[in-house]
Amino acid sequence: MEPVSLLQNRRILLGVTGGIAAYKVCTLASHLAQAGALVDVVMTGAATRFVTPLTFEALTGRPVYTDMWHTAGEALPTHIAHVGLAHAAELLIVAPATANTLAKLACGLADNLLTTLALAASCPLVLVPAMDAGMWSHPATQANIAVLKERGAHIVGPAWGRMASGLIGKGRMVEPEEILGHVRLVLGRNGPLAGRKVVVTAGPTREPLDPVRFLSNPSSGRQGFALAQAALDRGARVTLITGPTTLPTPVGAERVEVTTAQEMHDAVLAALEGADVLLMAAAVADYRAASVAPQKIKKGEEELSLRLVRTPDILLAVKDARGTYPRVVVGFAAESEHLLENAHSKLLAKNLDLIVANDITARDAGFGAETNRVVLIGRDGSVESLPLMSKTAVAEAILDRVTALLATGSAGAAPPES
Ligand code: C5P
Repeated sequence: MEPVSLLQNRRILLGVTGGIAAYKVCTLASHLAQAGALVDVVMTGAATRFVTPLTFEALTGRPVYTDMWHTAGEALPTHIAHVGLAHAAELLIVAPATANTLAKLACGLADNLLTTLALAASCPLVLVPAMDAGMWSHPATQANIAVLKERGAHIVGPAWGRMASGLIGKGRMVEPEEILGHVRLVLGRNGPLAGRKVVVTAGPTREPLDPVRFLSNPSSGRQGFALAQAALDRGARVTLITGPTTLPTPVGAERVEVTTAQEMHDAVLAALEGADVLLMAAAVADYRAASVAPQKIKKGEEELSLRLVRTPDILLAVKDARGTYPRVVVGFAAESEHLLENAHSKLLAKNLDLIVANDITARDAGFGAETNRVVLIGRDGSVESLPLMSKTAVAEAILDRVTALLATGSAGAAPPES
């Protein structure tokens, strides 16, 4: 897990209650700590029967709280001394949240350290229910959930699947990676891009030749997905238009799946309504087959020629639509020669505010790689060369530039007419 700038030194109170899913919350605690958060774990007595406090202590590097009455030589018992934990918390997550704890929280009971802190805390509350399917669907639990939702709690799951009892149904705890996505969504929602709509394209396109073959490229979609996550972390509403990739959708993004350049073109133009920012990280095919064979092309002659024709240039189409939307448009230039010159002329031709230039001849950067080495070229001719870094870090740098462009209003296109 890489550091996440949104989570750096954020105070997160993680309440663990007594369900078998507690073992998976160790992974969540570990992810949060590695991402840079300060995680204070509070366990109920029942939770300590499943996982030991020592496990969480080792993973978070911080003390774990379990006992309401423990004094340990302090002037005040724990429940009083640690109300400070509730006040310092920027987010309270309860995972797994058992039916019992949900009932207590709905009623406002304070009979253990966790429920006491939950009453004392005024930060956002994320609840991750996990229980047997019958307990989840019970009207009492559903009524408690309705009360908690009404009060503003963010309920994550439960998911459908096999439970410890062997039953299949709705009651499984959502996986740690997805919980982390919800944590980011809640913590980021008042960020610098709150109220903004960001459209991101990602991945390759596929241009069919016949029913089973296509022209494509090795784009993994990673850079575009990282941009979507970085925009979500800053509070934006995100539409992620993606070519074929198996990457999971960042929590909170609206995913639109496309295959061909033409479909991506149509999806982008449709998504531009109300958009403030367009980030075109997709590796869109420039050519498609002039005609798609209706049946599989059979092996035959020694040589086979394909006639290719241009696909629509999406950024040029957006350029024509500009003047209304969006305020900031960022393009990408994957080049194998004359990187800066080619990228800069593309920026001008496509009326971009920023272009991210990528030397695709390097093996540690560009297509398919985990890392990237890019140069950011601004409309004003400014050139910023970033060192080799993760695609996540590249996304953060791009979003910082985009946020600044929106804030200063110095983006290229005319601002939206109001
Ligand atoms: O002109 P070139 O395709 O090299 O420019 C790359 C930039 O243009 C990328 O941002 C890419 O997403 C976008 N592009 C496009 N429509 C295409 C091909 C590329 O908008 N048909």
